[in-house]
Amino acid sequence: MVDVLLGLQWGDEGKGKIADFLTPSYDVVARFQGGPNAGHSLEINGKKHVLNTIPSGIFHENCINLIGNGVVIDPILLRAEIEKTIAAGADVRARLHISKKAHLILPSHRLLDAASEKAKGEQKIGSTLRGISPTYQDKTGRSGLRIGDADSPEFKNLYARALEKHISVFRYYEFPYEEELARLESEWFEAVEYLRGFSQVNSEFFLHRLISEGKKVLAEGAQGSLLDLDFGSYPYVTSSSTISGGACVGLGLAPKHINKVTGIFKAYCTRVGSGPFPTELDDELGQYLRDKGNEYGATTGRPRRTGWLDLPALKYAIMLSGVDELIMMKADVLSGMDTINAALSYEGCTDDEQCPFNIQGTTVTPIYKSFPGWQEDISVIREYHQLPETFRNYIQFMEAECQVPIGIISIGPDREQTIQRK
Ligand code: IMP
Repeated sequence: MVDVLLGLQWGDEGKGKIADFLTPSYDVVARFQGGPNAGHSLEINGKKHVLNTIPSGIFHENCINLIGNGVVIDPILLRAEIEKTIAAGADVRARLHISKKAHLILPSHRLLDAASEKAKGEQKIGSTLRGISPTYQDKTGRSGLRIGDADSPEFKNLYARALEKHISVFRYYEFPYEEELARLESEWFEAVEYLRGFSQVNSEFFLHRLISEGKKVLAEGAQGSLLDLDFGSYPYVTSSSTISGGACVGLGLAPKHINKVTGIFKAYCTRVGSGPFPTELDDELGQYLRDKGNEYGATTGRPRRTGWLDLPALKYAIMLSGVDELIMMKADVLSGMDTINAALSYEGCTDDEQCPFNIQGTTVTPIYKSFPGWQEDISVIREYHQLPETFRNYIQFMEAECQVPIGIISIGPDREQTIQRK
C-alpha cells in the first residue's frame, strides 16, 4: 500500500515537516523525482535539519528510505548530506537505499545549467543551478549515467563520452568551464566510490517486495505541482513530474498500488525563480509575509516571492493528482492581519479553463475574496475547536471550494505545532 505526499504549489510548502510528522505511521519513505534542487526542512528536538536528496524518514529508526529511479543524484552533494545526517545521529548506512537506475548529475551538468541560464539572460528560469535540467535532458536523450553504472569497468569511458558532448556545448556558449570542472572531477569520482559503500538496489523489485510484505510506503514528492514539467507554468518549471503520476514512473509502481494522495499547500503562496505568479504581492505586505514566514530558500537562500492563496491554481493541482486530503501549512503566519485575501478565479477564465494554457506574458487578473483575519497567536493552539472562529470559517470555505477535506493544519515549524483533525 502506497500513499503519496505532494506539494500543490510552487514548492516549499513544508513537505519535510509533514513527511517527518507522518513517517512514524510508515515503514518506507521513497523519493520519486527531483534532486538536490529540493530542500526539505525538518525540525527535530528543536534542531533544524535540511534534507536535499535523502528521504524525510531518515531520522526514524526502522524506517526504510529509498531514493527512487526518478531522482537525480549529485554524488558530491549526496555524500556531504549523508555525512551531515550521520553526524546528526541518523543511522544512514542501515536506513538508506539507492536505486541503481537513478541518474547521476555530473560536474559538467552543473556547469551546463549555469551556461544555459546565462545564455537565456532576461528569460532565465531562475534555476537552482544544481544541474537538474541538463541531467534529465541526458536521461531522455539516452546518454545519461546511472549510479549503477559505477559498477561497470566501462564507467570512466561512459563518463568521458558524456563529457565530450558537454564540452561541445560549453564551446558553443563560449562558457569557461575548465577550472571548475578540474576542481570538481576528482571529488566527484571519490563521492561515486563512497556511495558504492551504501545499499544500491533494483528499486522497483525492492519496493514491490516490501509492498507484498504488507509494508506501508510513503512516496515523497519534491518541488510542487505548479513546477511540473508538463502541467506547471512551462517553461518556468523543473524537469520532472511532480504530480502523483510521477510516483508511478519515479518508483516503478503500478497505479493500482496507490492508496491515498495527500496534498500540501501553504495558507498563502510563494515562488522562487522566474515565471508567472498571478497573486504575487510585490509590495510591503509581500515583504511582511516573507519575513514573518521566513520565506528564504532552504537550498539557495534566495528570497521567495510571496502572494495570496491562489484557488484556481490549487484546484488545478488537486485535479491533476487526485488529492484525497489536504494539509494546510503556515496558517500561523497569517495571524494578526485584519483581512486575508484568496483568489477565487481569474478574470475572463471559464470554469473549463480556470488555469489558462499560457499565462506567461499575459496579464491574468485574479478575482479575490476577502476574509476577516484573526488576532490570536494560533501557534500555541493544539486543538481544532480552540482555533478562532474566523480561522475555522476560512478553513471551511477552502474545503467547500476544493471539495477536499483539510486533515492537518500546521501552525509552526515544530512537530508539536500540528493540529490533526479527527
Ligand atoms: P531547477 O529545478 O533547479 O532547474 O529550477 C527550475 C525552477 O524550479 C526554478 O524556478 C526553481 O527556483 C524552482 N525549484 C526547483 N526546486 C525547487 C524547490 O525545491 N522548491 C521551490 N522551487 C524549486
